[in-house]
Amino acid sequence: MARGKFITLEGGEGAGKSTQAKHLAEFLRKRGIKVVLTREVGGSPAAEEIRKLWLSQDEGYWEPLAELLLIFAARREHLTRTVWPALKRGAWVISDRFVDSSLVYQGNIKDEAGADVVKSLYRQIAGDFEPDLTLLLDVPVATSMSRVKKRGGWNDRYQLKAAPFHKKLRSAYLALAKKNAKRIKIIDAGHAEDTVSKDVAAAVSKRFHLKTK
Ligand code: TMP
Repeated sequence: MARGKFITLEGGEGAGKSTQAKHLAEFLRKRGIKVVLTREVGGSPAAEEIRKLWLSQDEGYWEPLAELLLIFAARREHLTRTVWPALKRGAWVISDRFVDSSLVYQGNIKDEAGADVVKSLYRQIAGDFEPDLTLLLDVPVATSMSRVKKRGGWNDRYQLKAAPFHKKLRSAYLALAKKNAKRIKIIDAGHAEDTVSKDVAAAVSKRFHLKTK
């Protein structure tokens, strides 16, 4: 049995990752591919428990390294209980966020732990495993802000309301994509939902030689 593919969706706040992950799953299933749709932080029973615990607190509650360790505990659970078994069965796994989120949010934006700590923790829990393809859903800052405003923002964190935060997020993601140009494909996600889903499907089809129709 051939190993499945691991596709991650990344982006700032209000980029539409969850919606696009669902569309992509549907697109692949229509082509007879078994798909596991999952997310971080979360994606396995214990990891979802950690997510609840983490998000139940206000911003600034967790000590930065403790917060990172929490996220990595969840990630290890997610990998060992959900992602790796599914890939081994031949299913394709689509994850709404993965380690690039930690690199950007904890390693860069919040400047809490630093990217080197994130990378070293990642090696400890995952070795040289990495996504086969990462789609970065890129949207202008004004779009992210208005989308976040509409949905209320998670736990009403104050950072989500501030333009400098969204700007930093966007440029950190774009810099990461530039550094990992082979793995990370940038999708212009400022368009209408169905246009973006077509672009996502086209990018995945191209990478894995699938038929778009
Ligand atoms: P979500 O809205 O995409 O579910 O993500 C919730 C928040 O979690 C989002 O603001 C990004 C954040 N996050 C991190 O800070 N580090 C991580 O490693 C992950 C996976 C998410």
